[in-house]
Amino acid sequence: MVRKAIIPAAGYGTRTLPITKVLPKEMLPICGRPALDFIVEEAIKSGIEQILIVVSRSKNMILDYYDRSVELETYLEEKDKTHLLKEIALPNVHFQYVRQSYARGLGDAVLLGKQFVGNEPFAVLLPDEIILANEKQPLKQLIDIFTKHQGNIIGVKKLDQDQLKNYGVIKPELIKNKEYIIKDIVEKPQKSPPSDLAVIGRYIFDPIIFNYLENVKPGVGGEIQLTDAIKEMAKAYKSYGLEIDGTCFDIAKMSEYVELINYICGPRGKQQQ
Ligand code: G1P
Repeated sequence: MVRKAIIPAAGYGTRTLPITKVLPKEMLPICGRPALDFIVEEAIKSGIEQILIVVSRSKNMILDYYDRSVELETYLEEKDKTHLLKEIALPNVHFQYVRQSYARGLGDAVLLGKQFVGNEPFAVLLPDEIILANEKQPLKQLIDIFTKHQGNIIGVKKLDQDQLKNYGVIKPELIKNKEYIIKDIVEKPQKSPPSDLAVIGRYIFDPIIFNYLENVKPGVGGEIQLTDAIKEMAKAYKSYGLEIDGTCFDIAKMSEYVELINYICGPRGKQQQ
């Protein structure tokens, strides 16, 4: 059973400046809700009970969002607006936080979750990617495969050649429809990507991954890359890729952010139906 999840949210949000100078990227609004809340909802609907959010100095707004505001609750009660209390109800999940003091990369952020995770499988969700599922939640799709294979399970998506250089890309061996064994994985291949299957920010890991994260050397961008730890671990333990069923939106790309907002709350959006 996968009960714990890590959400890395410590980055500077350089792709979304200038607003991210003051507003954490994870708090970018999508029809009145912060982007992060869609990820938290996905985790909860997939059976996650405890979430560790990796934050940095300027991210206190995230902690405030997932805390009670007693003043606001009192105000709504006094002003006879109790119907709004459900808008500020807290999600049914246990939150913990850890600060990443040095911007050493995604692998380092995940490594900060070692104590939280202990000795059980866990999920990692990257909040840049909001994935709207057709039926089953994206993370649940991975968890279901995990119960079958018991190795690392990495969510992937087929992308156009020109986009692959911005992602981790796997070298797959097809097992059956949409399921692969990961023979290799490369972070942001600048030429000759090993396939068109890109890592899209949803992972299930065996806690052994921490041994690899502790030993990995800085990679692309001088950062500790999660991809490099997956690459090393895949040599010794079977790791799997699963093509996720759902529509992905990278909220750090303005066009996809706007598309997502239209998709959810535009004139023909889901929330209008
Ligand atoms: C990170 C990972 C990369 C993955 C991507 C998905 O990159 O390092 O392997 O494909 O997230 O969004 P970043 O977007 O932080 O550069």
